[in-house]
Amino acid sequence: MRREAELETILTEFIERLQRAFGSVERARGKRILDIACGSNSSRSPDTGERTAMFEPWFCRLLFALGADPVGVDAGDLEGERFEHHAADLSRIGALDFLPDASFDGIQDSRLFGSPEFLALLPRSQHAPIKAELRRQEKRLLKPGGVIIHSDNP
Ligand SMILES: C[S@@+](CC[C@H](N)C(=O)[O-])C[C@H]1O[C@@H](n2cnc3c(N)ncnc32)[C@H](O)[C@@H]1O
Repeated sequence: MRREAELETILTEFIERLQRAFGSVERARGKRILDIACGSNSSRSPDTGERTAMFEPWFCRLLFALGADPVGVDAGDLEGERFEHHAADLSRIGALDFLPDASFDGIQDSRLFGSPEFLALLPRSQHAPIKAELRRQEKRLLKPGGVIIHSDNP
């Protein structure tokens, strides 16, 4: 946080999302939660295009520290992270097919479509089918009673 002041804003935002989704952060304990485009140790800023600590996998790290069971999916570097993580190219239809139906208590997708990595693969004019695919996958992957913690693409 000393290096990047905006990190505090992001962590506060994630805590508020958990409070809204589950009533309190403590209730996230034990829950299996998918974070789509979770951030990584190589992720770059949409503003500057430079590598930034802001988009490291903070939501999964926070969930792990809270005793939840996070699963992060991202194309960037997640080596050494202690939570379950998978590399996938989310610009491809079917990229999340390897995850079983009805297996998550909560799902988040946040800030994928504006990221420099995603825009380098697909221009905005080609995002609609991928947005529809994410909606389909989120519906498939949520357990009955599971919640969308946050989606940029509701
Ligand atoms: C701006 S960061 C968002 C991180 C976090 N979700 C948040 O809201 O702070 C965008 C993330 O999307 C990932 N990403 C971009 N294109 C991707 C792709 N085609 N497949 C998988 N991940 C991708 C990047 O590696 C980066 O970690």
